Amino acid sequence: MNAANPIEARKDEAALQLDASGNLRHLLTLKGLDKTLLTDILDDAQQYLTEPGELPARGKSLAGRTVANLFFEASTRTRASFDLAGKRLGADVLNLDVNTSSRKKGESILDTIYTLEAMHVDIMVVRDASAGVPAFIARHVLPHVSILNAGESDVSHPTQGLLDILTMRQHKGAFKDLTVAIVGDIRHSRVAMSTSHALSTLGVGELRLISPPVLAPEPDSVPGARVIDNLKDGLAGADVVMALRIQRERIGNLDGIPGIDEYFANYGISHESMKFARPDAIVMHPGPMNRGIEIEGSLADGPQSVITQQVTNGVAIRMAVLDRVGKTMAAR
Ligand code: CP
Repeated sequence: MNAANPIEARKDEAALQLDASGNLRHLLTLKGLDKTLLTDILDDAQQYLTEPGELPARGKSLAGRTVANLFFEASTRTRASFDLAGKRLGADVLNLDVNTSSRKKGESILDTIYTLEAMHVDIMVVRDASAGVPAFIARHVLPHVSILNAGESDVSHPTQGLLDILTMRQHKGAFKDLTVAIVGDIRHSRVAMSTSHALSTLGVGELRLISPPVLAPEPDSVPGARVIDNLKDGLAGADVVMALRIQRERIGNLDGIPGIDEYFANYGISHESMKFARPDAIVMHPGPMNRGIEIEGSLADGPQSVITQQVTNGVAIRMAVLDRVGKTMAAR
């Protein structure tokens, strides 16, 4: 969005995230964040988890700070969990209703951002359907303001990647011993990109990206991953199986995309297809799910599924990220 050369823009974006002391200021992408930082965020998040039925963890590290949720695209999990995470850390949280905001009257995104800055918003959580928007905003905000990417086109969804790897670590331990299979619409999935980049940084044993050829990732978009178009081969011996929905809202021309029955028969994660994976494999899905298309409903609700745990971990990860950028602000 802001540079003639997209590769240079992405490098610049990775560098933009850290301040001069190496502390996290913005979270735009998991690319370029090192293993130590990723592991530290997981460790922090783990401390925000409590048992079901207990009161949720709380803190005061964001007391006096203001977090604004700016979701220019639909969301349930990410928006609700950033809202709860900010409140549980003591922040004032503003959920801007984009559909009734002045953006509908033609106000530019930067004018919206400058307006919120003038109200002393410290952290802006941004979801947008266009690639490059979170980094574009990050380049224009005041030095004390943080931008957190809450889902960017088909490019990046860093907090989802973090909650996914936290869930895997809780169940499976060391990444170097794991075979992870991500199945579905890889090409249009920002979740696949962020989770894959984090797994690569953490030294995952084997990463497989499984899809029909028409939904395969761009060549070399995830270095080291095996791209596979056959579900049986892709799931063979897998420890972790993550299903993804077809991102129809990002596919201009649906020609060549398999119909529901054909897709489920060939790429659906079901009790039957899970027989190819290890017997103790876990089943993941970032949500929202389309039951009966990419995943069998009873499998999603069954004992191998950790899907609701991913949601719980989402609040903890967002608390850990908010707390970390809050500390970076406080250290300025
Ligand atoms: N996984 C995820 O981003 O879900 P939402 O679109 O509901 O936020």
